[in-house]
Amino acid sequence: MNKMKNHCYGICFFISIAINILLCTGIYMYIGGARWGDMKQEISWQSSLALTWTEKAAAEAEAVAAAPCSGHGRAFVDRLTSDGQPVCECFNCYNGSDCSAYNPECAAVATSGDLTFLEPFWIQNAANTAVVISGWHRMTYNYAHGTKMLTELENCIRKLHSIAGNAVTEGRYMVFGVGSAQLLSAAVYALSSGNSSSPSNVLASIPFYWLFKDQTSFFSSKYFEFEGNTNSLQSKNSTNNRDVIEFVTSPNNPDGELKTPVFGGKAIYDQVFYWPHFTPIPEPSDQDIMIFSLSKLTGHAGSRFGWAIIKDRDIYDKMLLYISMSDVGISHDTQLRALKILETTIDEDGKPFFEFAYTKMTERWDRLTSAFSKSTRFSLQDRHPFHCTYFNETRLPTPAFAWVKCEREVDNDCRAVLEAGKITSLSGSRLSATDRYTRVSLTMREDDFELLMIRFTNLISLENGSLQTM
Ligand SMILES: Cc1ncc(COP(=O)(O)O)c(C=O)c1O
Repeated sequence: MNKMKNHCYGICFFISIAINILLCTGIYMYIGGARWGDMKQEISWQSSLALTWTEKAAAEAEAVAAAPCSGHGRAFVDRLTSDGQPVCECFNCYNGSDCSAYNPECAAVATSGDLTFLEPFWIQNAANTAVVISGWHRMTYNYAHGTKMLTELENCIRKLHSIAGNAVTEGRYMVFGVGSAQLLSAAVYALSSGNSSSPSNVLASIPFYWLFKDQTSFFSSKYFEFEGNTNSLQSKNSTNNRDVIEFVTSPNNPDGELKTPVFGGKAIYDQVFYWPHFTPIPEPSDQDIMIFSLSKLTGHAGSRFGWAIIKDRDIYDKMLLYISMSDVGISHDTQLRALKILETTIDEDGKPFFEFAYTKMTERWDRLTSAFSKSTRFSLQDRHPFHCTYFNETRLPTPAFAWVKCEREVDNDCRAVLEAGKITSLSGSRLSATDRYTRVSLTMREDDFELLMIRFTNLISLENGSLQTM
């Protein structure tokens, strides 16, 4: 009897536990279901009223990008009217709130080093290169692993060089800078003698990029100073007992020549134009210090990003020290943008990008040389074909700048001669050459290049006529 009672209690206990479990689960499911229902309702309610933060950012970016500006201007997300409307920033020669007013008398401006001819490529690749930066994106000074350089970006740059075949990166150190401009300065500091009784003499071969002189003179210290032209020092044979640092720009700004050093000592190789769209690439560069820049590769000058590839550990340490003293590292926002841009640059082994850029530069050089072939008053720098390992063909260089010479004896200010023909260029003396030369940029937007061609064609067609006073 007792045994049966116990058995009955056991069954009842088991049933009561089972009922409790069922009840609790049911209640939980009911509450949970109700909560989820409410949440779902809330989400759909919210989305009919407001966008998520990414949708809001995307909507803003798309609205600004869609502003037509008559096809002669651009609007940007960082500049809206007080009621949130895009503001058109007009291209050269266009005015008005929608950039529809054209000024036919305006000059073709060819002074800038901007690569806006690449804008259409980035517009075509909008989806791959847009970045949404959250309000809390990488707020700290360092990345998680304690460094200031994004490893993924460094890896991407190494891959880019191996694809382009323009620089050796294996076993080399890398330093990021606020544009290559900062790295040029860091390299001078790193190579300088450190001996105040014999400061290093910084030199470059004429014609050379104006920043070498201006920046080195501006930052000159007891350890280094800008000396000037390599040739004058060489002809005076006066480098004995001097500590020399030479800037070697290859291809050169302004004439596109592949340069080699005049002295065999310390050299900073500025290779910002050593890419397949500007020059055939004969072989990977393998110098002690090589400097590259996003601005002259992809055209993103405003992001201020460059990198140096360095052989020697001691020089690397000194350049890193310079960057950390002047900037405490490079903006994480910039590094993210550079990563997105460069990942797209190396898509399909860089073919879409380099082919787009090279085709554009070739078209421009073809049109320019054809126009100049009718002139005896103006000439362009010589260009000779050689083999490009990237495109695997022999081809002509297509430099970023035309280095224009005025051949007539009286035309000793070539910039002024072009200015009279409504072309604004950069005088030879700004590049430490004579004013018989002037630098004409070829990397502007299509509209501006068309205008440049119109102005050159007019100038050349008037050569034997009424332009004697120009
Ligand atoms: C030869 C050369 N090096 C360096 C620079 C600096 O470029 P960034 O500071 O934009 O990288 C320029 C800019 O025009 C240049 O022409």
